[in-house]
Amino acid sequence: MAEKTQKDATVMEKIVSLCKRRGFVFQGSEIYDGLAGTWDFGPLGVALNNNIKREWWKMFVDGREDMYGLDAAILMNERVWEASGHTGAGFSDPLVECEKCKRRFRADHLEDKTTCPECGGKLGEERQFNLMFETQVGAQGNTRSYLRPETAQGIFVNFKNVVDSMSPKVPFGIAQIGKAFRNEIAPRDFLFRVREFEQMEIEYFIKEEDWEKLFEMWREAVWAWTDHLGLSRENVRELEVAPGDLAHYSRRTIDFEYNYPGKGFGELLGLAYRTDHDLKSHMQASGEKLEYVEPDGSRFIPHVIEPSFGVGRAITAVLSEAYTEDEMNGETRVYLKLPKHLAPYRAAVSPLLRNKPELVEKAREVFLMLKKEFGNIAWDDNGNVGKRYRRQDEIGTPSCIVIDFDTLGEENPDAKDTVTVRDRDTGEQVRVQISELIAHLRA
Ligand code: GAP
Repeated sequence: MAEKTQKDATVMEKIVSLCKRRGFVFQGSEIYDGLAGTWDFGPLGVALNNNIKREWWKMFVDGREDMYGLDAAILMNERVWEASGHTGAGFSDPLVECEKCKRRFRADHLEDKTTCPECGGKLGEERQFNLMFETQVGAQGNTRSYLRPETAQGIFVNFKNVVDSMSPKVPFGIAQIGKAFRNEIAPRDFLFRVREFEQMEIEYFIKEEDWEKLFEMWREAVWAWTDHLGLSRENVRELEVAPGDLAHYSRRTIDFEYNYPGKGFGELLGLAYRTDHDLKSHMQASGEKLEYVEPDGSRFIPHVIEPSFGVGRAITAVLSEAYTEDEMNGETRVYLKLPKHLAPYRAAVSPLLRNKPELVEKAREVFLMLKKEFGNIAWDDNGNVGKRYRRQDEIGTPSCIVIDFDTLGEENPDAKDTVTVRDRDTGEQVRVQISELIAHLRA
């Protein structure tokens, strides 16, 4: 079996091409030549995207007793971003512009900061470029706001609301999934660096003296998440961020990196100790008391551990891990070895022949039964069965179910009301009673 080589750039090209061809990810605004740094999720992409977010919520919110959900507005009072430090130098990247072709580059991504890598022209002076998208609110246009560059601040400004309404006990966390925007100088690598993306973030509020212990607890929890995404441990590694490279709010950060095909290791998600930087800054700037009051009346400003996950990077890693080429029945095939809980379709149902009404009728019965149970079940009656298998393999459908003449009991009465279930990874086929099909797929 010829497994993919992780470092092979063509693998990423093949994944991007599969994503377009099979309805996972399209270039944003494609019919107008696109808009750099934006991508649209097609029918299968939105399914994968939703599955990842649902699994994350299940693991980190519903699966725990110390977590609370939140969904804050994207637009916020501009003072939020002054207090958090995002309007300042801490949230900008170094930019250089070519004096000849006018292209702009991130200076820290260039080896030679004097010569344009595109046209050989002279590069101008380095300057700082703030990554926030600015916008005006209201008809007068005199109220400035920003598209949020991280979801985290929505959590900090609602800290008091959640404490007052839910009376949580420290340590506790607030979790949020939502869009974030950054005017990246050089968007690149498919969904890896884009200008509009989704984050899944947790701000975990703690007592200062517990930070090392709880940082370790989250480190383990993050590994459990990467396992749940089906990412092999050899393709994920930790990078301790050097003190000089830490974000303006962080005292310690570990980047969890994934070994992206063609790119090598790059950041997948971050785990940061944000101290009390944010609550303290918002308390000073807003005048609101953002403290936690213990039952005995003592007060303190909680410190924060922040695991921060990007949905797009998770999708890129999951697709990279799942993309497989092998040989089956003497033919090369491409398939996505997606975990069952992430695959866009749990199973596909088809009649052996689509011009036999009795087969179609029985197959529709099975399809509707499974659809009612799982929701994400595909109906596929195009082409011959072999072609259907290839098509479903390519989008990662774990099981294909075929209703044939045996199901009707016409040729073999013992096989009546059984169907063929074919496994995506091995190609093996087993006969399963229709009455046991749901349990079989759930196993
Ligand atoms: N609240 C902390 C925070 O925003 P970050 O390391 O800047 O920290 C967290 O971002 C995660 O968001 C990253 O690990 C990555 O998964 C994702 N992310 C950040 N910028 C991104 C971009 N331009 N495109 C895609 N994902 C991005």
